[in-house]
This record gives sequence, C-alpha cells and structure tokens, in this order.
Amino acid sequence: AAGEREERERPQTLAEISDAISACRDCPIAECGTRAVMGEGPSDAPLMIVGEQPGDQEDQQGRPFVGPAGQLLDECSEQAGIDRSAAYVTNAVKHFKYTQRGKRRIHQSPTAKEIDTCRWWLEAERALAKPRIVLALGASAARSLLGKTVSISKARGTPLPLDDGSELWVTVHPSYLLRLDGAAREEQGALFARDLSAVTARLKELG
Ligand code: URA
Repeated sequence: AAGEREERERPQTLAEISDAISACRDCPIAECGTRAVMGEGPSDAPLMIVGEQPGDQEDQQGRPFVGPAGQLLDECSEQAGIDRSAAYVTNAVKHFKYTQRGKRRIHQSPTAKEIDTCRWWLEAERALAKPRIVLALGASAARSLLGKTVSISKARGTPLPLDDGSELWVTVHPSYLLRLDGAAREEQGALFARDLSAVTARLKELG
C-alpha cells in the first residue's frame, strides 16, 4: 500500500488534503471516529504545531485541539507569546482512536504502524504550509516527523533539522501535564513553558 501511496498524487491545496483524508481508509482507525480531523490555520504559517490525534471533543467538533488538552495548549501558548491563530495546528494521526466504556470513549494511543501510515498526510500538509518551525507535542508527533521513535526528554530543548530545512522542536504533550498534579505538574509545566518560550524566541530570530 505504501508504494501505491507514493504514486498517488499529493493534493495541491490544504482543502484537497482535507477531502482526501476524509476518504482515506489506509488504516483501521479510519473506521473508528466520527470524522477525520484535518489541521487548521494559515497556509503560510511560520509555525506548525503537531499533536497526536484528535480526542473526543475534536472528533465531535471536527477541529484540532478544542478539548481540555487544547485549552491548556492555548493558555500556555498565550503565556509564551505564541499566537495560536497564526500557527497551523494539526495532528500526527487524523482519526480518534478509542475504546468504548459505557457512554465514554476512552483515548487509545495510535500504534507506531498507524502513525507511520498517517505520516503521508502530515508530510503533505508540511509540503504545502512550509513552516519554518515545527513543534511536536509528545512522542507520537515526534515519531511522525522523524520517522523513528525519540525520547522526548533527550530531544527537547534543541532543534532537530528536518529534510526540507525547517526545524523540529520537541516537547511533551499537554495531556501529559493534565495527568499530573502537585509538584510534578508544576515542574513539568515549567519545562513545557520553557520549551514554548524557546520556540517563540527562535521564531523571532528567524524573523
Ligand atoms: N490531543 C491531540 O493530540 N490532538 C488534539 O487535537 C487534541 C488532543
């Protein structure tokens, strides 16, 4: 299937990508959520923010990062001087993977294979938006962008070069912070804030 994919023509606009993703059945998660959740933001954004996959709220509303993790991301971004509306915000995987427990839909992490299958779409978004900086939130996003698994604690703080000359900055996922409390939350929150501020500084430097 990967070979067929390479031959399939890459969509030429973000709107075309959105339509094509909705029709994608390359992995089993496509049957899982309500809809594919495409990225959103200016097509020439200098910053692309990449999460893992849509959650329950995102799946219902059809927009990335609108649930609890998105609210935390918005708050922390604002504090760090990142304007969300000027960034292109998307996910490594475009469908919500979950297990049903009663009425609740419980998030399940995508497998490496699912991330790698969906990577084609993120690459297509990146090829069109051409951000100068890509911020990966968490291990799934980092894997998608690098094509291999990296340790967040080792990768954070220093940009990694991507194939098109842009820079990849890696940090934790805001959902991780939501699962912590007390001193751990404070400590990790401060590190997250530091990572976001480093991205702001770098964006300014790049002009
Ligand atoms: N978590 C993500 O990784 N992405 C979203 O869009 C929402 C929650």
